[in-house]
Amino acid sequence: MKTGFSVFLAAFVALGLSWCGLVYGPLKQLGGAQETTVLQSTDKWPVQRTGDATLGLQVYRANGCAACHTELVHQTGAANVLTLTDIGVHKAADLKDFTTSLLGTVSELTTASNTVVANLAGWNGELPKVIYSGADDTVVSMLGDKFKAVGVKTEARVIATGADIARGWGTRQSVAADYLYDSPVQFGSLRAGPDLANIGVRAPDLNWQLQHLYAPRSLVKNSTMPAFRYLFTVKKIGAQPAPDALVLPKEFSPATGFEVVPTDEARQLAAYLVSLKNNAPLYEAPFTPITAAK
Ligand code: HEC
Repeated sequence: MKTGFSVFLAAFVALGLSWCGLVYGPLKQLGGAQETTVLQSTDKWPVQRTGDATLGLQVYRANGCAACHTELVHQTGAANVLTLTDIGVHKAADLKDFTTSLLGTVSELTTASNTVVANLAGWNGELPKVIYSGADDTVVSMLGDKFKAVGVKTEARVIATGADIARGWGTRQSVAADYLYDSPVQFGSLRAGPDLANIGVRAPDLNWQLQHLYAPRSLVKNSTMPAFRYLFTVKKIGAQPAPDALVLPKEFSPATGFEVVPTDEARQLAAYLVSLKNNAPLYEAPFTPITAAK
C-alpha cells in the first residue's frame, strides 16, 4: 500500500510539473497578450483582419498551405546603416578622399575603416549609397555629423539582419503580438515555398494572388506549387463575362466560351494572404521605417 501511494505521488508530481511547463507557463507568458503600439506612432498592432481575411485563415488551414509555407520570420541581429542621400556640390572622387582622411584621423572611426573603404570602392556617385552597415552606432552618428558639416546629406537607419530578411521575407523578426488574431496560428515548419509572414507587402494585389492560386506557373516560371483549381469554378460565359473572372495567359485559359471565376473560399484566402504583414516596427523588434530623406 505504501508503494502504491508513492507511485501515485511520483506520477502526480511528474504530470503536474509537465502541465505547469507546457500549459500554465505559456499561458502566464502569453495568455494575456494584448495589442501593442507601433513604435513612434499611436497606431495599434496587429491590425484586426477583415471578415473575409479571418475566414481565409480557415481556408489556408484546410488546404494544408502550412505544409509548405511558414509564417515566421527569423532575425539574427540588427545593424546601424548610414546611407549617403545627397552629396551636394561635391564630386564622388573628392568625397572618397575626404572620407578616407576622416577614417585615418578620427579615432572612433578606425574600426569601421575597412568596411567603409570597401563600400566606397568602385562607387561612381550613384545615390543612395550605403557607406556603413554594422554594429557600431557611434560610427554612424560620427560620420553623419562630419558629412553634414560639409553639406552632404545622409540617412541613419536601424535594420534587422539575418537570412530571412536578406531573402526579402520580412522587415523584422516575427513576434508573439503578430499572431494575436490568428486561431489557430499557422507557423508551419517546412519551407518548400517562401515564408508568407509578409506576403501582403510583397504581393498586395488580390488578382495576383487569385491567379497564382489557380495557376502558379502562369506567374512564376517553373513554380512547383500545386495549382488549387478546385477553389475556382469554370463556367460558360453568360450574356456578359463575369467581372471577377480571371484574366489568364492563353495557355492557362479554359476552352473558348468559358471563364474561371473564384469561389468565396478563393476570395477569402486571397484576402487572408494580403493581410499578412510584418512591416511595423515594435518595441520587441525595432527598425527604422523607410521615410523620405531629410
Ligand atoms: C507542395 C508545396 C506547396 C503547397 C502545399 C503550397 N505552396 Fe505556395 N508555394 C510553393 C512554392 C514552391 C512556391 C514558390 C514558387 C511560386 O511562387 O509559385 C510557392 C509560392 C507561394 C506564394 C508566393 C510567395 C512569394 O513570395 O511570391 C504564395 C502567396 C503561396 N505560395 C500561397 C500558398 C497558399 C495560400 C497555399 C495553400 C492554398 C499554398 N501556397 C500551398 C509551394 C507550395
